[in-house]
Amino acid sequence: MTKAGTATATKRLDSYLPFSTPCFGLEEKEEVVGALESGWITTGPRTKRFEEEFAAMVGCKHAIAVNSCTAALHLALVALNIGRGDVVLTTPFTFCATANVVVHCGAVPVFVDIRPDTYNLSGERLREFVERACEWNGSHLTVRATGGRVRAITAVHYGGQPCDMDEINEIARDYGLTVIEDGAHAVGASYKGGNVGTLGEVSCFSFYANKNLTTAEGGMLTTNDDNVAARVRLMSLHGISRDAWNRYAQDGSWWYDVEAPGYKYNLTDIAAAIGLHQLRKLPGFIARRRAIADKYNAGLAGLPLILPTILPDRLHAWHLYPVQVTSARVTRNQVIEQLKLRNIGSSVHFIPLHLTSYYQRAFGYRPGDFPVAEKTYERILSLPLFPGMTDHDVDRVIEALHDILR
Ligand SMILES: Cc1ncc(COP(=O)(O)O)c(C=O)c1O
Repeated sequence: MTKAGTATATKRLDSYLPFSTPCFGLEEKEEVVGALESGWITTGPRTKRFEEEFAAMVGCKHAIAVNSCTAALHLALVALNIGRGDVVLTTPFTFCATANVVVHCGAVPVFVDIRPDTYNLSGERLREFVERACEWNGSHLTVRATGGRVRAITAVHYGGQPCDMDEINEIARDYGLTVIEDGAHAVGASYKGGNVGTLGEVSCFSFYANKNLTTAEGGMLTTNDDNVAARVRLMSLHGISRDAWNRYAQDGSWWYDVEAPGYKYNLTDIAAAIGLHQLRKLPGFIARRRAIADKYNAGLAGLPLILPTILPDRLHAWHLYPVQVTSARVTRNQVIEQLKLRNIGSSVHFIPLHLTSYYQRAFGYRPGDFPVAEKTYERILSLPLFPGMTDHDVDRVIEALHDILR
């Protein structure tokens, strides 16, 4: 190797490998410039096209673009009239947005423990909770201890692997509950041939910077229910009867009514310009993520790590590659520190919500309430995973873990 070649190789080895970084090409850049030069930068034609193409990809009737998954989750609850006195069942092993929006509506998030293998809400635990702790009078399900009426289940597809939707939907059917999919990690995933986005009544997606499809910040809500879609669209923009495109465009009209006190959750055309091309690239992104996951599976076998479990009948979107450290000698935190020393980023998904101060203070949760989520949390970390990772990057992580754990 030449001197210059050696220098390049050394530089590559030493450079920081982030946990995640977005992947853009000329297409996104040109489309953003197109939006800027068009004179229309907020919600308009590109957002409309993004919604139509997203709905076609998912195979649903309505897709409504919003500025985050948090906004989509909030609007889902608003459209379902979930509020004071209501309860939403969900997992503690999620990002706080899933439960925070329930609180924003005045309702109560009630957590149910996860499966130890996929880290998704356990259908078995859910049924056990409903039968043990709730009262069913033939039309309403209430939590016996508080009298709160259970209205919905938010199923978070952790890391991009769909939840046990048959079991969850069956419980929902048995007790008149609505299923909301939190598909923040799972755009492009499917379960028994059905796409995430069509597996519950309402589904929410995130286009945050590190997600499989990104618009920097952004989100999408999908549904086949006309009434939910109409309500979400209205409430996503102040509750006013016409959006800006219908007021300011050439054949628009200035008049509008305020039908309800809505929110400011609309997506910009600049973000949609990025999203249009990310959507087209999504199958390729997921294929590359899967190839990286396969390489990790092969390269990490035999180390004191629990690798991801993939259940049959589902297509994983591979947003995350989580491993649990089972070494008697090295802790999860030490692995993170050791990776950092080797210039490799990682992350932890998630700190269970019942261990956070707000959820303890507001709802009385305590350590020990959800043992599977807690044990998983103590040992889990997410390795770098993004489509732009080279095979060399993946090998670097594998070699580092062999070095740290052997
Ligand atoms: C499971 C889950 N739900 C919801 C969200 C919120 O997404 P956003 O940042 O688009 O609001 C996230 C964000 O990371 C998430 O991981």
